[in-house]
Amino acid sequence: MLSYRHGFHAGNHADVLKHWVLAEVLAYFNEKPAPWTYVDTHAGAGLYRLGAGVGGAQASHEFREGIARLWAARAKAPAVFSAYLEAVAAFNPAGRLELYPGSPAIARQFARSGARGKGGDRLVCFERHPRDFAALERLFAGDAQVRCLSSDGFAGALQVLPPPSRRGVILIDPPYEVRGDYVRLIPAVRAMLEKFPQATVLVWYPRLRRVEAEELRRRLVNLAPEDHLRVELQVAPPPVGGRGMTASGLVVLHPPYVLAQRLQEGLPWLAGQLEEAPGQDGWVLEAKIA
Ligand SMILES: C[S@@+](CC[C@H](N)C(=O)[O-])C[C@H]1O[C@@H](n2cnc3c(N)ncnc32)[C@H](O)[C@@H]1O
Repeated sequence: MLSYRHGFHAGNHADVLKHWVLAEVLAYFNEKPAPWTYVDTHAGAGLYRLGAGVGGAQASHEFREGIARLWAARAKAPAVFSAYLEAVAAFNPAGRLELYPGSPAIARQFARSGARGKGGDRLVCFERHPRDFAALERLFAGDAQVRCLSSDGFAGALQVLPPPSRRGVILIDPPYEVRGDYVRLIPAVRAMLEKFPQATVLVWYPRLRRVEAEELRRRLVNLAPEDHLRVELQVAPPPVGGRGMTASGLVVLHPPYVLAQRLQEGLPWLAGQLEEAPGQDGWVLEAKIA
């Protein structure tokens, strides 16, 4: 079943958290000249026109409580948001926020072309939805550094690991609309780490029901018990009746050693910008770094 369309949610509070962390990881990878490979198991359409709706259906608006708030406050944003906001700005050069880059487009902003005949940084993106895959292919048409594949991202990632670069980042960002996403996640990450033990792996999860999220997180961090980080952001109390998502998080396995410090610097400001109900104690950061 492929009913999920990321366009409805693009640029919301969960995207902001996820893409800020991704930008920080890739900025760190760029501190060394050796090329890296980025694998996006659930890539989405790549680029979203804000407020335009998806496929002519309902208008998407979640970005107004997400990236639009950061964009409006960007002149005062702490330096730790520069890499992320510059990646968003690259798609909005006139200064009006009209387009929002999804994870593959953010990652592409950080990818360096090869120098002196050497290959540059590479992206491998998996997307199953036919229309979102078509949009993704159009976005990267003719781009020799990006491969787009319409196959299943959990299984497909194993076919491209380990990358020749031996430096790499894997983003796993399923819709969690079907139970299979929860069931497949842990074995898939374990298999990826068996093939590519040094990978930095980012797994996004919604905090819909606290117990389920805690169980998922516990099992994820156990895949790298001595070298992981967890970050969560809550923008409002859990919704009455359980509909809607007011909190989400990421587990990062083998994070760059500077990541926890960088996130610590930015989270209080980010939580203040994105809170939808005043007085939220809105963020969590836990790290165990090797
Ligand atoms: C949360 S969205 C991805 C958003 C994107 N990572 C970003 O941050 O911009 C999840 C995407 O996964 C796709 N999808 C669902 N199951 C998949 C699978 N097994 N393999 C690859 N893509 C899948 C959906 O069509 C959807 O576009």
